[in-house]
Amino acid sequence: MTNNKRDGFGSRFGALVALAGAAIGLGNLWRFPYLVGNNGGGAFIIIYLAFVILLLLPVMYAEFVIGRRSQSNVLGAIKKLAPKSVFISIGILSIAVTLTILSFYSVVGGWTIEYIVQSFSSDLFKQDNGALGATFSNFISAPVRPAVMHLVFLGLTALIVAGGIKDGIEKYTKFLTPMLFVIIVILLVRSITLPGAEEGLRFLFYPDFSKLKASSFLDALGQGFFSLSLGMGCIITYASYVNKRENIRKMSLTTVVADTLFAVLAGIAIMPAVFAFGVSPTSGPSLVFITLPQIFAQLPFGQMFSLLFFIVLFVAAITSSISMLEIVVAYICEEFKLSRKAAVLYSSLFVAITGLLCSLSEGAFSNFRLFDKNIFDLFDYASNNIMLPLGGLLVVLFVGWKLKRKDVLDEMTSGGTIPMNRAIFGSVMIILKFIAPLAISIVMLNGIGLIKIF
Ligand code: PFF
Repeated sequence: MTNNKRDGFGSRFGALVALAGAAIGLGNLWRFPYLVGNNGGGAFIIIYLAFVILLLLPVMYAEFVIGRRSQSNVLGAIKKLAPKSVFISIGILSIAVTLTILSFYSVVGGWTIEYIVQSFSSDLFKQDNGALGATFSNFISAPVRPAVMHLVFLGLTALIVAGGIKDGIEKYTKFLTPMLFVIIVILLVRSITLPGAEEGLRFLFYPDFSKLKASSFLDALGQGFFSLSLGMGCIITYASYVNKRENIRKMSLTTVVADTLFAVLAGIAIMPAVFAFGVSPTSGPSLVFITLPQIFAQLPFGQMFSLLFFIVLFVAAITSSISMLEIVVAYICEEFKLSRKAAVLYSSLFVAITGLLCSLSEGAFSNFRLFDKNIFDLFDYASNNIMLPLGGLLVVLFVGWKLKRKDVLDEMTSGGTIPMNRAIFGSVMIILKFIAPLAISIVMLNGIGLIKIF
């Protein structure tokens, strides 16, 4: 094959910002702060960190091993490492779940563009809470405008991915990912200096173990998978572009630290402001598109803070969406021997249509329901609750049981050049073989209601 001609990250920093950009996304900004607050604050953070370090970091190692060893797209990787095995399903599932998530992610990406535009006009800030809610629901249920915004967002994603790894993804994430941190720190400083901010900090960090529910454990694990972009071939694909000499354990750890740090910073930027203005914290679209504009409306220079916030949201979303499109593009290029441009065109045309369906399901098609959910919610539910954990399960089983132990060690030590403590390697293997499969199965079966442990 033409592996020596394969594109790849040009530098360590380039790889790290791309990985961190993929991980940091809507999940950090609109879900994490709320989950933390509602599950006992500091108590939840401890559980989350424990899962991330003990379970998800090894899962990330596993995805790195598959990607970097094979230097292939997610399906090609399994074909190379274990030809004709049932684990080919990892590749198929990854492509399917990526297309599913990208469909609604791109629609939400379009909403962030709309709110950047809205932040320029002062109209948004003249509205009271009820009107802001109506503005948002009128916008997302309209037939044309959100669909156009979705196409704009997807178009921008496609343009970046069409540039390739070094001259596209790396070139843009090199300034976009650091920009995320700069803006979130500006917002954070504004938020914690508001009178009454302490209560928001208390909501986030006070370890209230009595608020810890059994379901908190499931929430923490599910959030960890989504936030770290695990279980859908994202890390496998990006790792395949990482230089053979790099230390993949360090890279995994840096990605995890960056993502978790950003989630906590986002919490500190959002919750103190929410409490300072006496509104109740919510999660998801209503937090960022209704509750926060309500706060910006009352803040001196609110329009500027609104603009900064929606830029952060947009940047976080696009650095994640390019990683998703890349999973599919790498697959089409390499498995069907098509040019990158053609692969970008076909995959984005596909997502344009599926995304359009998601967008319309908030309005014109809202009566079309399956399992009592519109298309948007159905895609969201199926990907998060079924496909992602299943993908994660297959990955850990694959690396734990199918790959040769010495090959896993070889990859984790970059061909023996970066030594690894034997006991740590042994523990990682035990986690991948036994603990992770068990934990993920429980979360998944419980999540879809097949078993009721909690
Ligand atoms: N990690 C992203 C977030 O927190 O929003 C979502 C995501 C991106 C999931 C890329 C999966 C992926 F491949």
